[in-house]
Amino acid sequence: MSASLGKVVVFGGSGFIGRHIVQRLARTGARIIIPSRHPGQVTPLRTAGEVGQIVPIAIDVNDDAAVAAAVAESDAVINLIGILAPSRGNGFEAVQHQAAARIARAAAAAGTRTFVQMSAIGADATSDSAYASSKGAGEAAVRAVFPGAVILRPSIVFGPGDGFFHRFGRMARILPFLPLIGGGHTRFQPVYAGDVADAVMVALNDPTCTGRTYELGGPRAYSFKELLDYVRRQAGVPGRWLVTLPFPIATLQATFMELLPGKPLTRDQVRLLRRDNVVSGSLPGLTDLGIMPTALELIVPTYLRPPRG
Ligand SMILES: NC(=O)c1ccc[n+]([C@@H]2O[C@H](COP(=O)([O-])OP(=O)(O)OC[C@H]3O[C@@H](n4cnc5c(N)ncnc54)[C@H](OP(=O)(O)O)[C@@H]3O)[C@@H](O)[C@H]2O)c1
Repeated sequence: MSASLGKVVVFGGSGFIGRHIVQRLARTGARIIIPSRHPGQVTPLRTAGEVGQIVPIAIDVNDDAAVAAAVAESDAVINLIGILAPSRGNGFEAVQHQAAARIARAAAAAGTRTFVQMSAIGADATSDSAYASSKGAGEAAVRAVFPGAVILRPSIVFGPGDGFFHRFGRMARILPFLPLIGGGHTRFQPVYAGDVADAVMVALNDPTCTGRTYELGGPRAYSFKELLDYVRRQAGVPGRWLVTLPFPIATLQATFMELLPGKPLTRDQVRLLRRDNVVSGSLPGLTDLGIMPTALELIVPTYLRPPRG
């Protein structure tokens, strides 16, 4: 068990990856603040710690004073805030760039010792994808005001409650086919949420991580087609067709789908699928943090396999 980290503020701590991190932080005895737009929904997470150890607070991340108050006297700040698609009042630029900059600026002003910024593989301020460009701009803004920040860039993240495997598992059960966007050639290197959370814990405790950027990928890369084939077998529907959807058709379809509630597919996501989502090899990764990546075959069946009987 690591030593207590004092006060740790986890922006986005209510989310999928955040829950894994908060559980680990709680074991260290840290006092954990979780700023959220919906603090009432964070209540179940409080049971991960002792009474009063985990405190959800309401936040508007566009408000300088509110962000400054949240990070005051903190020893560490972790920013996990991110979105996959914009919604009313929650755009990529505001959430993944401006809010990241505001939180890092406030943490620097408060004298916070450690800052961890959760970015994503492919983050690039010059990208034609709004998701990737806002992640890249967010990284640069954080570095500019908090040079010692540790930036973590995961590939797609798996674990109970994830977006990718649950979503395609559900689609496999209800649709006659699964869409192989762009032929399914895009490569991914799925990484376990527990390993990402362990990486955050190392980043908080090991001063040699200061100022570095890490790319987090699992033990091997898979094509999109291999992943969908795996999903249909695990979901108990191995006969579901995998139907190629060329990029222009997928873009056209996304034009309509992004008008639906929850935006099941957006043109920006189709743009992202044109690039591989695997570690580059030019930046340090999980093994440099002393973490052996967990194979998805060990974890995904525990939540995707249909119940017996
Ligand atoms: N999951 C993946 O496969 C994956 C892959 C690469 C990178 N990442 C990055 O890892 C981070 C965490 O991902 P996740 O999968 O845990 O996401 P998630 O489950 O969707 O959680 C995202 C968090 O962002 C917060 N948030 C969104 N908009 C906000 C706003 N306007 N103000 C304040 N909070 C806001 C939400 O908090 P409230 O709703 O409580 O306010 C939520 O806790 C993100 O930055 C994501 O881009 C994830």
